[in-house]
Amino acid sequence: MQAHSTLAQHIRDKLGTLSQFPLLESDCIRLRGLREEDIDGLYRLFSDPRVMVYWSRGPMQSRAEAEDYARNILDGFGKRDLLNWIAADPKTDAMIGTTTLYEINPAHARAGLGYALMPEYWGKGLAVEAATLALSYGFLELGLHRIEADTEPNNVRSNAVLEKLGFQREGLLRQRFIHPDGIQDSLIFGLLNSEWRAHLSAQGYAFEPD
Ligand SMILES: CC(C)(COP(=O)(O)OP(=O)(O)OC[C@H]1O[C@@H](n2cnc3c(N)ncnc32)[C@H](O)[C@@H]1OP(=O)(O)O)[C@@H](O)C(=O)NCCC(=O)NCCS
Repeated sequence: MQAHSTLAQHIRDKLGTLSQFPLLESDCIRLRGLREEDIDGLYRLFSDPRVMVYWSRGPMQSRAEAEDYARNILDGFGKRDLLNWIAADPKTDAMIGTTTLYEINPAHARAGLGYALMPEYWGKGLAVEAATLALSYGFLELGLHRIEADTEPNNVRSNAVLEKLGFQREGLLRQRFIHPDGIQDSLIFGLLNSEWRAHLSAQGYAFEPD
């Protein structure tokens, strides 16, 4: 692994030179920056009880909360410690969800991964697609060493998505979130840069020679 200080500086430089939100795309999903018209989509997504049942907070009750969420996306990008992409249909560019690298920490070369899709897009493997773009950006572009995720243990879909991506279950944090539906435990998952590269190689991805 690169010397600690140079890796941290490399990550800071990569984030620092970003002039606009990085656009990532595959055949079936696009990760793009926030636009004003996405605020209604954010409200639709995060006010849906089906989406929020395993989230660390309850459903949004007003559009103003979605406006706050949008402001937080822009503030986080400004501070370069949050990349909260809008997940969109590459054909129509319409919002279908979000995908996030949060608490980006150059000093420890790590970040957290989050994602949420509108229910009509569940069951199509799109979370794996979206997360694959974000993980490759985090590991291969930024040079992060570790990316982690936490789920409510009963969130079988999200647990399955993380395991398909090669994440390892690392532990359980008891009674970690106070949710309107009750106190939630957290399953902690972790993925290392070398593991992501091995995962991609296993899928036939060829890396540029260093
Ligand atoms: C988590 C979420 C993104 C997964 O969406 P998705 O990519 O459409 O996931 P899928 O529905 O394809 O399910 C993924 C896997 O879970 C498994 N799965 C799905 N439903 C399941 C069920 N009811 N029981 C057991 N396993 C199930 C399947 O193995 C499936 O993979 P497959 O492609 O092999 O069939 C989506 O459910 C969501 O947005 N939830 C609300 C927000 C959220 O909870 N985000 C994560 C917070 S940690």
